[in-house]
Amino acid sequence: MTLRTWNLRVGVVVFIWLSALLGVALAGDAVTGRPWLIIHLLGLGAASNAILIWSWYFTEAVLRLSHSDHRILHAARLTMFNVGAGTVVVSYGVISVREGEVSAGLWSAVLAGAVVAFAAIAWHSIALLCRVRAALSARFAVMVHFYVAAGVALLVGIGFGAASARGDLPGDWPARLAVAHSTLNVFGWVGLTVIGTLVTFWPTILRTRMAVGVEEAAARGLPLLCSSIAVTVVGALIGVQSVAAIGLAVYAAALAYVVWAHADEVRRKPPTSFAGLSVLAGVIWLLVALVVGAVAYFTAPDWIAVHDRLNDLTTALLGGFLAQVLLGALSYLVPVVLGRKPSATQAGTRMLDIAGPARVGAANAGLLVWTLPGSGWPHTLSAAVAVVALGSFIPLVIWATVASSRRQIAARPRATARPSGVVLGSMAAGVAAVVVAAAVGVAVDPAAVGLPARSDGAPPLRPGRPLAYKSALPACGSHRGASRFRAATGW
Ligand code: HEM
Repeated sequence: MTLRTWNLRVGVVVFIWLSALLGVALAGDAVTGRPWLIIHLLGLGAASNAILIWSWYFTEAVLRLSHSDHRILHAARLTMFNVGAGTVVVSYGVISVREGEVSAGLWSAVLAGAVVAFAAIAWHSIALLCRVRAALSARFAVMVHFYVAAGVALLVGIGFGAASARGDLPGDWPARLAVAHSTLNVFGWVGLTVIGTLVTFWPTILRTRMAVGVEEAAARGLPLLCSSIAVTVVGALIGVQSVAAIGLAVYAAALAYVVWAHADEVRRKPPTSFAGLSVLAGVIWLLVALVVGAVAYFTAPDWIAVHDRLNDLTTALLGGFLAQVLLGALSYLVPVVLGRKPSATQAGTRMLDIAGPARVGAANAGLLVWTLPGSGWPHTLSAAVAVVALGSFIPLVIWATVASSRRQIAARPRATARPSGVVLGSMAAGVAAVVVAAAVGVAVDPAAVGLPARSDGAPPLRPGRPLAYKSALPACGSHRGASRFRAATGW
């Protein structure tokens, strides 16, 4: 099987998870337990598959290994992971739909799925470790060290996820385990993979040479990032909020240190494509979410409030960071690995870059309104614009895949970078779309922003808060624990 056919086949897996995510996101309130499903279709499904596929691909590339060796084992690991992840999503999805009613059978199914996913990730991490050990002197071996550390974080994170799924933990344990689980999975599994990949990938997206000191900064940052994750998790387990907050603050500082090393690349070649702008926006969301999270954890009155604040940060972390980095990276990679020849790759790249800055502007402005406190039509319509801007990737990637596969492509001049004025103007158009959507929301529902309600006697139309994690899972997991904790403490 050629590398192209292989990439096409494994890419379909990510595409299926992304399509399921878009379907659930658009289904609105028709799917109860939607937030849990959205989080896991993205984090456990699409992002984890992309990480398994691309961390392996980049490892082979930077260690100069053949892409065809070990392919059968890699395929077996991917299949195993998807069986496990699919079982978790379906079985806990049923628990969510039943409003948190966890039968022994369903929990056993979640546990079985988690064990299979765990085994696949352990196998992947050990295989990466063996490959990097065998190539000791490779210049970018540090990237593979990031991938192994990310795998270890997910292994522990899966354990906490399976424990949370039981739903019978006492006191504030559900909240603390949720903090530990999301720290390990979002900052560990996804965050470490992204930060490690940026070493070579970011200058590649910008089409410029790597800045001096990038690998050294990454190598120095890795132990700091791993220790900060451990500190936050220990803080959650021993129940000391300030310790968890310090962990997040140190992670933010280490991230800033590692990405600052890339500043020269951005100065030389500022991003103008969808891929570059989306990845940059994603990393900024991660940095801001970490700082806000550290302050929020530090100042929260107790763990239940910490968990509430983590829920509020979920949109920033999953939409702002994870989805944008994933879609930006795929927009660069898909045409490169699927193009039959350079002209086909260029055709695919051009398609995935259609209205790139406008899509990034709309997605970020929409996500910003979505994350602000409040609810009602202004939030819902802005969130809808963000979902459309992010979801537009799906039809575009189908089109780009078809274009990249064509044997006959009319030669067109190579696309040149957009002038910065065009990039800014186009991003402003995307932001304007969100402003219009929010204004329509205010016109329909003035009370949402504290204006006097409509005087025509009609009842206000209140759609509620998009992706309101807690309100949508009233009796699920930690939320059952939270209500018990409130009942017990009178808080
Ligand atoms: C086998 C793997 C996994 C299992 C069994 C699992 C299970 C769970 C459960 C039961 C909850 C609900 C916790 C609660 O609020 O009570 C949860 C929440 C969450 N999970 Fe997972 N999960 C898994 C993998 C992942 C992955 C890979 C990610 C991200 C990359 C992720 C991100 C999250 C986030 C962000 C939350 C929300 C935490 C909160 O605010 O409550 N999970 N997971």
